[in-house]
Amino acid sequence: MYTEKVMDHFMNPRNVGEIENADGVGEVGNVKCGDIMRIYIKVNGDIIEDVKFKTFGCGSAIAASSVATELIMGKTVEEALKLTNKQVVDELGGLPPVKIHCSVLAEQALKAAIYDYATKNDLHYEALKDFDPNEDHDHHDVVDIEF
Ligand code: FES
Repeated sequence: MYTEKVMDHFMNPRNVGEIENADGVGEVGNVKCGDIMRIYIKVNGDIIEDVKFKTFGCGSAIAASSVATELIMGKTVEEALKLTNKQVVDELGGLPPVKIHCSVLAEQALKAAIYDYATKNDLHYEALKDFDPNEDHDHHDVVDIEF
């Protein structure tokens, strides 16, 4: 049911944790399954020089956030904004249909972190112009919960 890559990133997730004094923090949750994901980014110039995550959720959500952090590490903010949940799924070698929303959560958490960074620095990215962190993203509500 799960690829080896999913199992690997679930058992040994990369870039777990928090970044103190992060330049952007994004937190999203899925109201249906109750899973919550938080992504921290550190930006230098326009390069994402560090990214960490904390996911309180299912194995697929943990694996999805783990590969998402790998995919954007060292990239520019613009490049990171192009990350789609499909790329996350492809990188994992696939996810069962009922678990696709877990990859959407990773994409949205990253966007929320960049949105936070952009808001704090008065930066405007084309890819974020319709992004509303308080909107219901594909049934994903932003939640305000302390870990
Ligand atoms: Fe909801 Fe995985 S079951 S994030």
